Amino acid sequence: MKTVIEPYRSRVVEPIRMTTRAERERFIREAGYNPFLLRAEQVVIDLVTDSGVSALSTRQWSAMHGSDESFTGSRSFYKFRDAVQRLFGHEFVIPCHQGRAAEHLLAQAVVKPGDVVFANTHFSTTRENLEAAGAEARDLPIPEAHDRSDPYPFKGNVDLARLEAGLAEAGTRARMVIITVTDNSRGGQPVSMANIRAASELCRRFSVPLWLDAARFAENCYLVKLREPEYSGRSPKEIAREMFALTDGVFMSLKKDALGNTGGLVTLNDAAWAEAVRVRLLSSEGIPTAGGLAGRDLESLAVALDEMLEEDYLAYRIASTRALGEQLEKAGVPVVTPFGAHAVYVDGRAFCPHLANEQLPAWSLSVALYVHAGVRTWETGNVMQGRQDPATGAWRWPDFDLLRLAVPRRVYSRSHLEYAAEAVIELLARRESVRGLRFVYRPAVLAQFVATFEPA
Ligand code: F0G
Repeated sequence: MKTVIEPYRSRVVEPIRMTTRAERERFIREAGYNPFLLRAEQVVIDLVTDSGVSALSTRQWSAMHGSDESFTGSRSFYKFRDAVQRLFGHEFVIPCHQGRAAEHLLAQAVVKPGDVVFANTHFSTTRENLEAAGAEARDLPIPEAHDRSDPYPFKGNVDLARLEAGLAEAGTRARMVIITVTDNSRGGQPVSMANIRAASELCRRFSVPLWLDAARFAENCYLVKLREPEYSGRSPKEIAREMFALTDGVFMSLKKDALGNTGGLVTLNDAAWAEAVRVRLLSSEGIPTAGGLAGRDLESLAVALDEMLEEDYLAYRIASTRALGEQLEKAGVPVVTPFGAHAVYVDGRAFCPHLANEQLPAWSLSVALYVHAGVRTWETGNVMQGRQDPATGAWRWPDFDLLRLAVPRRVYSRSHLEYAAEAVIELLARRESVRGLRFVYRPAVLAQFVATFEPA
């Protein structure tokens, strides 16, 4: 059969409230032209993120009913710990409430002022946490990643030559190397096993630990299976185990591939680092056998660590995101290709050539798309990554100014995604109607969540 179907059916449904254009114009004005500040019920199709918004399975719900909510040493924690150890293979397992908490704990525990941390691309919260601890966070993407439509299958790879030179130059200041799988900030592009293996060898040579930001590792592993011939006969779980065996530690949000409504994780082999992370955990997150999570969260996550690697599910997941991307690409929408797994990214600058960087093209497109059809998306570009020189006021804009249509897991049907694509395509036909915006309020860090704007 050619049709790839959802390998599940719905038994509980959540109504979607339809809105009118006039209502949406008012809602977005009241939200300071920031889609993050909308109420969720003002949104028709919510593609702002794939994080924490998954539909849970009957197995997850059933495990949650059997949870142990003891203050410490709960059965639910040990189930979670065993599931993590079986898959990741590291000795220490430290849960926390979400991905950025894991980053914060790790950065506060092991990073010193003047340290250098290398990555393919640091996700925005990872960068903020490392910089807050005094480190320099250096991104080393490969040249192909700078070209939106270069067909290279692993545009998330880290540039190994620059990594080697960087490690040699930084010497004892090199604290760790992070590979983000998949590379969310650069179009959700996967990283090849060959690249992770070579990075791991470099790390060993320079005695610097290799870490993964593994928020979307299952999708990365499935793309490895599809695109790296050596792995075509292997299961996603086997690929994942091999990948983690190359690392010294993993920090991750469990709200993405791990199908959690909340949750984060640090898992590692180094006893001293584990102890330092746990000390931090106790003062900010919770006790070591909970990390701020309820027993039912740990139960749900333990089940999901298995479900997220099921091949039928991953095949459907990648096919549905690709169908969304192909619908846009066929209509001439400037998209990032090859398509990743969790989202499709539209090039804001190419979509809105009439807008200068200061007029925030992808952000403005996101606002226009909401007004047009009630579809909420996320900008990963000028607002999220633009930096202003404190002395001169001059802006430094990121390589890409992208609009992301993220696909929540197991939530929307094919027709929901077709509706979202149709809305983007209709806007393309009247692209000059997309009005530019400018900042009214811009906080110093993580601007996207709280900034406000006005029409430029
Ligand atoms: N790392 C990556 C690669 C992420 O994409 C995110 C979150 C985090 C870390 C932080 O995890 O949200 O659990 O604290 N990304 C979300 C997104 C917010 O929509 O892409 P968190």
